[in-house]
Amino acid sequence: MGNSEEASAKRKQRRWPIIVGVVAIVVVAAGAGFLVWHEQPGFCNAVCHDPMDSYVEGYHNDETLMAYTHARENVTCLQCHEPRMDEQIAEGIAWVTGDFGTDDAGKIVRTGVTADEKMCTQNGCHDFSEVRAATADWGGETGVNPHDSHQGIALDCSNCHGAHGQSYMYCNTCHDYEVPGGWADPGIRGV
Ligand code: HEC
Ligand code: HEC
Ligand code: HEC
Repeated sequence: MGNSEEASAKRKQRRWPIIVGVVAIVVVAAGAGFLVWHEQPGFCNAVCHDPMDSYVEGYHNDETLMAYTHARENVTCLQCHEPRMDEQIAEGIAWVTGDFGTDDAGKIVRTGVTADEKMCTQNGCHDFSEVRAATADWGGETGVNPHDSHQGIALDCSNCHGAHGQSYMYCNTCHDYEVPGGWADPGIRGV
């Protein structure tokens, strides 16, 4: 066994008491207003600074982000990220064991989270027929609608809308439609 492998094995061993400690704290706190705290955006990075700081920071302060727009409307993290026990346990273990990567902006690299119609319409947040109507004849072009096209349900909201990062005008990988301010344009124009 090489030195670094040995060191990492030791580090893993040393983390076990932490895991037990965290589980104990969660269990004890559950009876003591923990659930109320859990609802607050500040909960997410109170312990897990890395990787949660950049998400919480952007939510409060970065005007270009969709998450920020939602913060202004008092939509909490957990109203979008419906907490599921299995996910939370998996997140907790990934965090304690350091089994995740972050990029230069502090965002998690390996990500399976995307926005779909279910996430965005839960709790009556968005009525998709209204959303569709809002972008009818997009850019003044009759029949063009990013929310109603031949791409249909193959498209996830996250193909275009970034919650914690820049949005992306997916249609323009093939077309040349108007791009909302601040969005990335894959741009066939320049090609
Ligand atoms: C408007 C809904 C919405 C709100 C509010 C929101 N998120 Fe997200 N979050 C998303 C979506 C959608 C993604 C998928 C990536 C993206 O769009 O940026 C995501 C991705 C993430 C990820 C990456 C998950 C992974 O496994 O890669 C983290 C971490 C995260 N959000 C934390 C937070 C925290 C912390 C808050 C509150 C401070 C928050 N989110 C508020 C919608 C939301
Ligand atoms: C093909 C790209 C694309 C996809 C996919 C997409 N959107 Fe959009 N969406 C847009 C564009 C473009 C706008 C206009 C943004 C602007 O004007 O700043 C928009 C605007 C919106 C708005 C604001 C509408 C208003 O009232 O002004 C909402 C809400 C929205 N989208 C929700 C969704 C939801 C929910 C999904 C997934 C079910 C989704 N979008 C999928 C491109 C997309
Ligand atoms: C992978 C490439 C591709 C993507 C991505 C794509 N389209 Fe298309 N689209 C096409 C092709 C090819 C046609 C048919 C060619 C034509 O008739 O000009 C077409 C036709 C259309 C038409 C019929 C009118 C026309 O220009 O002929 C509309 C409207 C349209 N697309 C809207 C969209 C919207 C909105 C999006 C984003 C949600 C989108 N498309 C994404 C390739 C694409």
